[in-house]
Amino acid sequence: MKRERQGFVCIVITFLLVTAGFYLYAETAKSNDKGPAQPVLFSHKIHSGDNQIQCQTCHSYTEVSSHPGIPSVQKCMGCHSYVAGRDVEYTTQGGQTINIREEINKVKGYWRRQEPIPWVKVTGMYGTDSAGMPEFVRFNHKRHIKRGFECSTCHGEVEKMDVVYKAKDMTMGFCLSCHEENADDEQHKTELKDCLTCHY
Ligand code: HEC
Ligand code: HEC
Ligand code: HEC
Ligand code: HEC
Ligand code: HEC
Repeated sequence: MKRERQGFVCIVITFLLVTAGFYLYAETAKSNDKGPAQPVLFSHKIHSGDNQIQCQTCHSYTEVSSHPGIPSVQKCMGCHSYVAGRDVEYTTQGGQTINIREEINKVKGYWRRQEPIPWVKVTGMYGTDSAGMPEFVRFNHKRHIKRGFECSTCHGEVEKMDVVYKAKDMTMGFCLSCHEENADDEQHKTELKDCLTCHY
């Protein structure tokens, strides 16, 4: 009889532990930042939100070429050779904690070793990354920026993100509905909806 009760207590305890473990796991999963883990935690919120650095300071090709490009380490060092950063802890929206100065030291490490930072792509269509757009789609930033669209129309409010993530699914429907709404006239609409406008 005593044996049986011990067995029952064991089962109850195991059940409680498994449940607790599950909730703990669910909590950690929930607290992850939505974007991919990056080699350096580069916060757009700190740079473009808190410190008001314009997008084009770093993605400077948006108005002159089709690829906005990711800035080089040299670009970062333009500031970080004198901005050492505060020696304070910072917790991201997703609950990761970093030390501001140590995170900047990682950037200096890449600079000393003369290595590029291997950033993980979020929305790019070049290369083979699955987060990207297929190779057969033609997209050009310049025309869209010249037309006055904000970065946030397509990328969401990046200046509020600690870890940048794909805020909008840029599917064919997304492109087409905006082309439909913003065409100057019927002929322009036909042009903007033509398969060959976007496909090679
Ligand atoms: C126009 C100036 C400027 C440029 C360019 C710049 N930063 Fe910063 N960065 C700052 C300032 C200001 C802070 C805030 C420092 C603080 O709060 O003590 C900062 C903070 C940081 C931090 C710590 C906070 C965080 O985001 O995790 C990292 C890491 C960082 N920068 C990396 C980079 C990288 C990588 C680049 C290049 C892609 C770069 N920075 C380009 C000004 C700049
Ligand atoms: C200080 C430099 C800096 C500034 C200012 C900056 N960015 Fe970035 N941006 C980066 C770096 C470095 C990356 C690559 C690392 C990452 O994805 O977090 C990046 C990545 C991105 C990506 C994802 C690219 C991909 O992989 O598909 C988008 C979208 C983006 N930035 C938009 C913006 C917008 C919009 C603004 C203005 C609100 C802005 N950025 C301001 C440096 C900057
Ligand atoms: C009309 C929609 C649209 C607007 C507006 C827009 N983008 Fe993009 N952006 C895209 C699409 C689509 C991609 C993915 C295709 C590609 O790689 O060119 C992309 C990719 C990017 C990338 C990654 C490029 C790379 O080289 O990996 C960055 C950085 C970026 N955008 C920054 C910006 C900034 C900064 C602005 C505002 C000045 C902006 N975008 C405005 C649609 C847009
Ligand atoms: C926010 C509205 C909007 C979105 C979203 C949008 N476009 Fe456009 N796009 C326009 C407008 C308006 C024009 C016409 C610009 C002009 O003629 O000045 C245009 C023009 C173009 C052109 C022709 C101009 C050129 O560069 O040769 C292509 C190609 C294009 N868009 C592709 C895309 C693709 C691909 C997507 C989705 C990833 C997309 N667009 C999303 C509004 C948008
Ligand atoms: C305004 C830009 C635009 C126009 C115009 C456009 N497409 Fe697309 N198309 C895209 C984008 C962006 C993708 C990739 C994202 C996706 O699959 O939704 C795509 C994907 C596709 C795919 C692959 C779908 C899949 O599930 O893999 C096919 C097929 C396609 N388009 C055919 C067409 C045809 C046919 C037309 C003309 C009737 C057309 N497209 C017009 C932007 C466009």
